[in-house]
Amino acid sequence: MAKGRIVTFKIFRFDPQVDDKPRMVSYQLEEAPGMTVFIALNKIRAEQDPSLQFDFVCRAGICGSCAMVINGLPTLACRTLTSKFENPELTLMPLPGFELIGDLSVNTGKFMRELAERLALYLHPKNEDDNIHAVEQRIEPEEAEKVYELDRCVECGCCVSACATKQMRETFVGAVGMMKLSRFALDSRDARDDDDFYHVLGNQDGVFGCMSLLGCQDTCPKDLPHMEQIAYMRRKVAGIPIFNK
Ligand code: SF4
Ligand code: SF4
Ligand code: FES
Repeated sequence: MAKGRIVTFKIFRFDPQVDDKPRMVSYQLEEAPGMTVFIALNKIRAEQDPSLQFDFVCRAGICGSCAMVINGLPTLACRTLTSKFENPELTLMPLPGFELIGDLSVNTGKFMRELAERLALYLHPKNEDDNIHAVEQRIEPEEAEKVYELDRCVECGCCVSACATKQMRETFVGAVGMMKLSRFALDSRDARDDDDFYHVLGNQDGVFGCMSLLGCQDTCPKDLPHMEQIAYMRRKVAGIPIFNK
């Protein structure tokens, strides 16, 4: 069988528990057909360096755990084929904007939990004495489509890392925060009104801090409609009538 090309992975290494400063370490691997960055990292860890830290769960673009910066772009390692890079030298960095656990592993879970608490990212039922044992509360199919489209977010953190505003202002909620709140704004079962959304997003940490350069939409591995949803929330909190949600 023909040999694959040799790919060099320059990987950010830093364990905050033991290291004084970060360093870049190079590893080399023979490329196999269909090799993803995730497969390569597993191979490096199994055969060359068991101390390498990175995250994964599903290997199928569903859990969002394996997000990292590959050649300067935040993306999912398990959905990135090494063969798509003409130059066989890849640089892997951890996602910026999150607490670093070690090497390529960051704590996106902590960020998402804090965001959910801060923005109250859960349904606020209109009728408190609704029967909680009811099997379902129906909504129109068109509405369900819009709401559940936004629920496809896998909380990978790529949009947060790609956002210049977020990197400059730590308290900025980021595209994922605005989009997740928009999911509830679209949901007719949610009791919150424009005024309530204004109080959480109507400031520089929310929709008015966003520069609309769309690093978020360009990097989202689930192709979620950030631009549309940020514009929708901006109109809502500014009190501009929306005729077609
Ligand atoms: S459009 Fe807004 S949220 Fe998206 S990357 Fe730019 S500043 Fe960040
Ligand atoms: S919106 Fe997209 S990029 Fe942002 S966390 Fe969700 S899936 Fe990841
Ligand atoms: S391992 Fe789950 S998205 Fe990559």
